[in-house]
Amino acid sequence: MTVTSSRRAVLGAALVLAAMPRAFAQGKIPIGVIGSGNIGGTLGALWIKSGHPVMFSSRNPDELKPMAQKLGPLAKVGTVAQAAQFGQAILIAVPYGGLPQIGRDNRAALAGKLVLDASNAVAGRDPAPLVDEMKTNGPGITSQKYLPGAHVVRAFNAIGYKTFASEAGRPDPKLPVAYAGDDPAAMQLAAQLIRDLGFEPVAAGGLKEAWKFYLGGPAAGAAKDAAEMKAKLAAAKQ
Ligand SMILES: NC(=O)c1ccc[n+]([C@@H]2O[C@H](COP(=O)([O-])OP(=O)(O)OC[C@H]3O[C@@H](n4cnc5c(N)ncnc54)[C@H](OP(=O)(O)O)[C@@H]3O)[C@@H](O)[C@H]2O)c1
Repeated sequence: MTVTSSRRAVLGAALVLAAMPRAFAQGKIPIGVIGSGNIGGTLGALWIKSGHPVMFSSRNPDELKPMAQKLGPLAKVGTVAQAAQFGQAILIAVPYGGLPQIGRDNRAALAGKLVLDASNAVAGRDPAPLVDEMKTNGPGITSQKYLPGAHVVRAFNAIGYKTFASEAGRPDPKLPVAYAGDDPAAMQLAAQLIRDLGFEPVAAGGLKEAWKFYLGGPAAGAAKDAAEMKAKLAAAKQ
């Protein structure tokens, strides 16, 4: 490369960076939260603490405004559709019965994006056929079916929100968080976002492996460190 062409390359890169939204340029990822209750509210607040802009959504967005005001200027409030558009990455934390509709209504907005899914299908709360489907096919395959086109990564579903709130950013060893997905780039971004929350990401493998840390699974719940979580995942047998 000549001096002139290398200068041109540097200038080109600078122009690209200047054109990028501020958040991207600084390594901050706009995150859309769908389901801003115990889990969505807790994790969204932690992402804001680490500098990511977060749009919290609700079917009644006005109800979230007081919470967002307390979290400062990085916190925004919108409809589910607006959060799906806003996020470069999305967190879905709703009762599982809501997932198929969210996938249908927001298919285009979610396409190609990392969708972290913390939602569980719970007997008595969620429709019985979905609870059965989850048992038969596992959480990873089931969520991907209802969120077609999105890069689903399962995470955060088997540790209580109070534990996430109290253990975030603790001194080493950090709280290990298992995650599973099929898309390598989405898995990489998921790991970064888990780290930014103040936890230690522990990859469990592809979506087929998400059952290992599903409710009642061998690696569900909080482990004391990443080594313990890895050992539980490795020992898990179908
Ligand atoms: N609580 C925990 O510690 C925990 C831990 C791990 C995983 N989970 C799982 O995470 C999910 C959320 O649990 P949570 O405790 O955070 O529940 P939550 O406090 O009740 O919050 C769920 C939120 O989902 C929204 N929602 C419900 N149905 C929806 C739909 N059809 N479309 C869009 N939004 C909908 C509701 O918001 P609006 O009514 O305002 O729209 C509600 O604020 C569940 O599947 C749960 O099993 C929970």
